[in-house]
Amino acid sequence: MRIAVTVNGERKEADVWAGESLLFALRERMGLPGSKNACEQGECGSCSVLLDGTLVCACLVLAAQADGHDVTTVEGLAEGERLHRVQEAFVEAGAVQCGFCTPGLVVATAALLRNIPAPSEDEIREALSGNLCRCTGYAKIFDAVRLAAEGA
Ligand code: FES
Ligand code: FES
Repeated sequence: MRIAVTVNGERKEADVWAGESLLFALRERMGLPGSKNACEQGECGSCSVLLDGTLVCACLVLAAQADGHDVTTVEGLAEGERLHRVQEAFVEAGAVQCGFCTPGLVVATAALLRNIPAPSEDEIREALSGNLCRCTGYAKIFDAVRLAAEGA
């Protein structure tokens, strides 16, 4: 089937098969490899995107379900050449090692700070509980979230 999705403000069309995930469609058909595929089971959060403003795992959403809707991926957060403040904070805090989890964490953090500009420690941990990182031990990721919140 053919779908049309507004991705990062731009209309994209693609031919997808019935069981295809939004993650596959974004990465393989729409030229947006920023969202990562680590588990494809909704466990790791590396594929996090916003669907009509709501944080979702793109691996758990059918591409067909996104037809006619708005999707924001990590590629859509920066404004031109200027990184999103969450991206800047991750760099500044040294919150990136292998980087595989980073796009999902950045999208999840941006969603958190949009809803709660000054989150508590518990709110940060709760908001990022669906995003797994096997490298950093999370301390620097939480530093980055605090840094981004302070820079709001
Ligand atoms: S790839 Fe989607 S949650 Fe892991
Ligand atoms: S930096 Fe490697 S998984 Fe998070």
